[in-house]
Amino acid sequence: MVLPDEIQTERMTLRRATTADAPAVFERYAQDRDVTRFMAWRPHKSIADTEAFLSSQEKAWSTGEGHRCWALVPHGEQAAIGMIGASTSISGTELGYVLAQAYWGKGLMPEAVAALTETLFQLGVWRVAACCHVDNLPSRRVMEKCGMVHEGTARRYLLHPNVDPDVPADCHVFAIVRPTENDR
Ligand SMILES: CC(C)(COP(=O)(O)OP(=O)(O)OC[C@H]1O[C@@H](n2cnc3c(N)ncnc32)[C@H](O)[C@@H]1OP(=O)(O)O)[C@@H](O)C(=O)NCCC(=O)NCCS
Repeated sequence: MVLPDEIQTERMTLRRATTADAPAVFERYAQDRDVTRFMAWRPHKSIADTEAFLSSQEKAWSTGEGHRCWALVPHGEQAAIGMIGASTSISGTELGYVLAQAYWGKGLMPEAVAALTETLFQLGVWRVAACCHVDNLPSRRVMEKCGMVHEGTARRYLLHPNVDPDVPADCHVFAIVRPTENDR
């Protein structure tokens, strides 16, 4: 699916992530243990880890396949403060997101999720879903604020290596679906 390189929100530009984002991403959140606690990846030990991740993103953007990430950049700034990613197909998209701690609590991620969801609906996607570890209340709140509905708790769903490296965690699954004429 062809996804836009850039999406505008009220306070941010979401733009295609590149390896040039590595210094900001590493310094601002990728090595932060609090930020990465509920992520499916370990905190980055060096900027090389961040570059390797962003290089895989560049490849996904150039082939138009696989999981793709947009950097969150506040208007008037250049450096990324977080990322939002999507694994996309027409039948459904799964979102993931992360934000540097200094920017938490300002409603920025709900703004990014809502804008990306709207873009995906305009591209014809029927369902936008996300999941979080059952203890990740901030992430749950993002999904609720974006009008996603709690569809259930999936048991042993996803490994969260910073919580338990051996046993996949129970996760809340949320989704929002594109309305049809009959729903209105
Ligand atoms: C989840 C996350 C993206 C939320 O983004 P955000 O832009 O701060 O979202 P909001 O401002 O809407 O706040 C959402 C909730 O975070 C919590 N929160 C707000 N400020 C906070 C702070 N300074 N510290 C801890 N939690 C905070 C509150 O529960 C808030 O809900 P409320 O508005 O009902 O009080 C962000 O907390 C984050 O990056 N966390 C680490 C990465 C992560 O867990 N990603 C999701 C994986 S599923």
